[in-house]
Amino acid sequence: MASKEKNMEALRAFFWPQTIAIVGASSDPRKPGGRVVQLLKEFSFPGEIIPINPGRREIQGLPCYPSLEEVKERVDLVVVSVPAAQVPGVVKQCAALGLKRLVIISGGFGELGREGRLLQDRLRQLVLEHDLTVLGPNCVGFINTLQPATPSFVLYVEGERLRSGSAAFIAQSGALGMLAVFLASREKMGFAYVISTGNEVDLDFASMISFLSREPRVKAIGGYLEGVNDGDALRRAFREAAAARKPVLILKAGSSSEAAEAIRSHTGAMAGSSEAYRAVFKEEGVLSASTLTELLSMFKAFQPGRLPQGNRVAVYSLSGGMGILTTELCPEYGLEMASFHPATVEQLQRLMPSIATVRNPLDATAAVALNLEDIRRSIELVLEDPGVDIFIFVTPFWRVFGTAASRMLVEVARHTEKPFLVIWPAATKEVKNELYENGVPLYDEIREAVFAAGALWEYARFQKHREVPDPVGPPPVPASVSASARNRLRECRGRLSEVAAKELLRLYGIDTPRGAVVQELREAVEAARQIGYPIVLKAVSPLLAHKTEAGAVFLEIKGDEELRRAWEQMEHNLREKVPDLVPEGFLVEEMVPGGSELVVGIRIDPVFGPLLMLGAGGILVELIKDISLRPAPVSPAQVLEMLGELKTGALWRGYRGRSGLDLDSLAEAVARFSVMGSDLREEVRELEINPLLPSPDGRAVAADALILLK
Ligand code: COA
Repeated sequence: MASKEKNMEALRAFFWPQTIAIVGASSDPRKPGGRVVQLLKEFSFPGEIIPINPGRREIQGLPCYPSLEEVKERVDLVVVSVPAAQVPGVVKQCAALGLKRLVIISGGFGELGREGRLLQDRLRQLVLEHDLTVLGPNCVGFINTLQPATPSFVLYVEGERLRSGSAAFIAQSGALGMLAVFLASREKMGFAYVISTGNEVDLDFASMISFLSREPRVKAIGGYLEGVNDGDALRRAFREAAAARKPVLILKAGSSSEAAEAIRSHTGAMAGSSEAYRAVFKEEGVLSASTLTELLSMFKAFQPGRLPQGNRVAVYSLSGGMGILTTELCPEYGLEMASFHPATVEQLQRLMPSIATVRNPLDATAAVALNLEDIRRSIELVLEDPGVDIFIFVTPFWRVFGTAASRMLVEVARHTEKPFLVIWPAATKEVKNELYENGVPLYDEIREAVFAAGALWEYARFQKHREVPDPVGPPPVPASVSASARNRLRECRGRLSEVAAKELLRLYGIDTPRGAVVQELREAVEAARQIGYPIVLKAVSPLLAHKTEAGAVFLEIKGDEELRRAWEQMEHNLREKVPDLVPEGFLVEEMVPGGSELVVGIRIDPVFGPLLMLGAGGILVELIKDISLRPAPVSPAQVLEMLGELKTGALWRGYRGRSGLDLDSLAEAVARFSVMGSDLREEVRELEINPLLPSPDGRAVAADALILLK
């Protein structure tokens, strides 16, 4: 967790130092302290490098000081590379000298069990006490290619040059961040900043997103994320990036329990569920990658800084097969094939008579591929078509024109505002370099390119949506309702009975079936007649976890005689299956006809708090795991969006306008439930309505409810 808010000036000063001192500098470049000095020199740090080492007078050709106290110059940044036990001493010395900005490379802290954690706590205390700004410990440092400053001990690039660019990368694993830089450098992509946050005693993943959101030279922010402890801070940072229109692209680790365990020992981050991260990413417009390759694919696509107006793709191929494979993948990534305007079709046909039918994907055929001018013109025609939002050029070899072909692509790409992606696996090195150098996204793999095009559209759609905020928002619930709900829960432990749970739902304005709690058969018959058959009979107890298994539920009871039989059978079942249970009473309830069912749940995630789950109910729950998740609370409009995301979404959409289920009532009920979960996040562990059913008059009714307390 960031120890405090940093202002932009303080962070700029941190990442743009004029003088860097390295405590633990070494003549041996294999040691991290030696490598930091070497890299600063190698990548032409324009400021002063001051090695500190009591045993040397000179290090790698630079005068060396025995300690920071001896340094006369003003030091802007101290890199600490001494064994962990010595770090607090060095930090205190820095504080005493008024040196407030530190990169602590040393490992041996929180990642190393109890003793390491104590050392890390001491470090955090020093940071707070002396108002320091610290990156690390257990990090590789950072790179600012704009200055350039490379206070890091890992940095490899292809070629001599440290490339700069408009992207930035934050890595909770330093080596992985530097690998991303290396891989990107092979494709002539550059980063403005690469920041390894390590154990995050001070500067953390969220604070770095926020810094980069405000850094005008950064256009896209990527990250390798293991986990955070403060989910709200992370969401605020994502929102800052979204408001600055900077896409955030994240490779998140930790979806298996083994990986989550490894993360706990690597960075000590709390394990929020991977579903919670996914839901938050979706909500905040964060684009997620599942591999480093996917992450770089997105960086490439976002590099030109263009977003599509829509999701209609034109595929222009010099190979029928590759065109078809590209087309085939589009729907998977939310893309549609554009239909060309009749005028475009006519002009293309005139230009390329060898093409029998002009359609999308456009197969320009080998004959046309021999005329570069025709290809240029036909690409321009497709790009000019108002029905085309994204352009993908795909070819396997096409070597006849050498770099004239890549130059042509660079030019047409430059003259359009539409995203322009190229898939050309067998391009020559020269051709690839030309496209890379000019920032035209070039891919070897079809899937990578289509994935990246999908990410462009996803982000464009997110931004469009963000600009028109939901006017309604989550349903307002009076403070007295929250207070009363909390009061009721204060006395309870474990689980609420169904009756108590339903009372809480009603308090939040969620309908439940009409019903009455009775103690005797006579009362049951009376209640049933009043409600009207068919009815449901259920035993009521907070200790009854599995009602159906205990034989404590009878559905669709049609008359007095059937009710009497059900009552007797239930008494018998309870005696047999849960002999120690003394029910609080029996619930006689209106039978809401089944049919389309939904399950709605709230789980309190340790990092992000209440998370709303909406899923297809009944047997579908287990069978197809058809669910959509969002951080709670949500608005009714968001509930409708969630319904649309279900595999069975079409089924629900089909209800709009028909009698049967009133979708607006359903959306309102689910949104109210999400407010309830959010209100009671401190008291409850889990809430569930299963099933949520349409009543005959169309209202959504919570037929059964479960509330587990903390
Ligand atoms: N002030 C100045 N110099 C000091 C010093 C101090 N308080 N204490 C030691 N030194 C000197 C040493 O004498 C040595 O100099 P030499 O090379 O001339 O002999 C140099 O600093 C380095 O110290 P050394 O004890 O040799 O340690 P090291 O370089 O082998 O390892 C760390 C130090 C910090 C790199 C190591 O303890 C460590 O934490 N490694 C893990 C780093 C890591 O993985 N980070 C995270 C990656 S994601």
